[in-house]
Amino acid sequence: MPGKRIRVALIGIGNSASTTIQGLFYYSSNRSSEGLWHPVVGGYGVEDIEVAAALDIDERKVGRDLSEAIFSEPNAVEKRFTIPKTGVVVEEGLLEDALNPYLSSTIKPVKQFRKNVADYLRSRSIDVVVNLISSGLDKTSIAYAEAACEAGASFVNTTPTSVATDPNIVEKFRSMRLIVVGDDLMSQLGGTALHRGLVAFLKSRGVKPVRSYQLDVGGGLETLNTMYEDLRDFKKQVKTSSIAEEVNEGWEVVSGTTDYVDFLGNNRVTYLQFNATGFMGSSLIINVNLRSSDGMNAGNIILDVVRAVAKAREEGSSGNVNEISNYGFKKTLEKKRVSDATILFQSKYCR
Ligand SMILES: NC(=O)c1ccc[n+]([C@@H]2O[C@H](COP(=O)([O-])OP(=O)(O)OC[C@H]3O[C@@H](n4cnc5c(N)ncnc54)[C@H](O)[C@@H]3O)[C@@H](O)[C@H]2O)c1
Repeated sequence: MPGKRIRVALIGIGNSASTTIQGLFYYSSNRSSEGLWHPVVGGYGVEDIEVAAALDIDERKVGRDLSEAIFSEPNAVEKRFTIPKTGVVVEEGLLEDALNPYLSSTIKPVKQFRKNVADYLRSRSIDVVVNLISSGLDKTSIAYAEAACEAGASFVNTTPTSVATDPNIVEKFRSMRLIVVGDDLMSQLGGTALHRGLVAFLKSRGVKPVRSYQLDVGGGLETLNTMYEDLRDFKKQVKTSSIAEEVNEGWEVVSGTTDYVDFLGNNRVTYLQFNATGFMGSSLIINVNLRSSDGMNAGNIILDVVRAVAKAREEGSSGNVNEISNYGFKKTLEKKRVSDATILFQSKYCR
């Protein structure tokens, strides 16, 4: 809708929120769009996105202007751009789960959590809430989704908690004519997207993949959090089944985060190995090593998904919009190959 701005609330002012905000200012004030995957999505430019609300629970972020909070510890993502004061002060969020030992040793929680997030979102006329909190806080992510629904805002769930894949939650959003998309963001070119892309390439060359594995090591709060065994197993399942969407029967695949390396900061190193068979059963082995920044890898997808959600809502869609979830997330209701999902998203929103 020309002239309309999309009012966004960011929940969890960590590394992904930091790159998203840096990217918003960078591309809104720069003439170059280099590095921006889709300059226009649903008729919206990046400059049409306005971050109008922000919540966190870490006392080093709460009470500070977003321009400072995004560079506060423990955030480790690179500072690419100095942000002028935004006028949006990070406020305290809610917490309905116990923090696991890794989170509680790093996050310094505020003394008092917010009780009514819906009122807060309503008072800021929020269109889209982006949930970027630490993974594993399932009750909390669901409480934020319910608050968004109550406040008349759509919801983007980047965490692996089942929100957009939970039929009851999807129904609540549908009945309010709102949109919910997710779950678990798929980085623009992280291990999962690269793994899936290489699978498709091998198949397109007539080579038969037999098995592959993906081992990720990284630094930053979210990787540390993933060292919590239950969460590590859960995320491994999500990644492995996302890759399995590209795969035919008879292929063994293993994918997961294996270790935390403090000095990697917000960077992640992914080791991929493929075993495949070619002519007369000859053997092929491919080893790939990817080094990337988690936060930077999230920026394009978050900006694209927010604009697509705004557009889909204008067009009268509600509930989980598969074309958006399949493009931007690993755990989805519908199974689609990554190349098909990207083409569908682009043909619908990026013309
Ligand atoms: N490329 C990517 O960055 C990527 C890819 C896939 C999924 N994700 C998901 O996105 C989410 C954010 O990732 P990140 O790297 O920015 O994490 P991060 O650890 O850098 O930041 C998380 C932030 O959430 C805050 N937080 C924790 N509990 C909260 C609560 N109850 N209310 C409000 N804020 C709370 C923390 O204080 C921290 O500021 C994670 O769930 C992650 O799994 C990110």
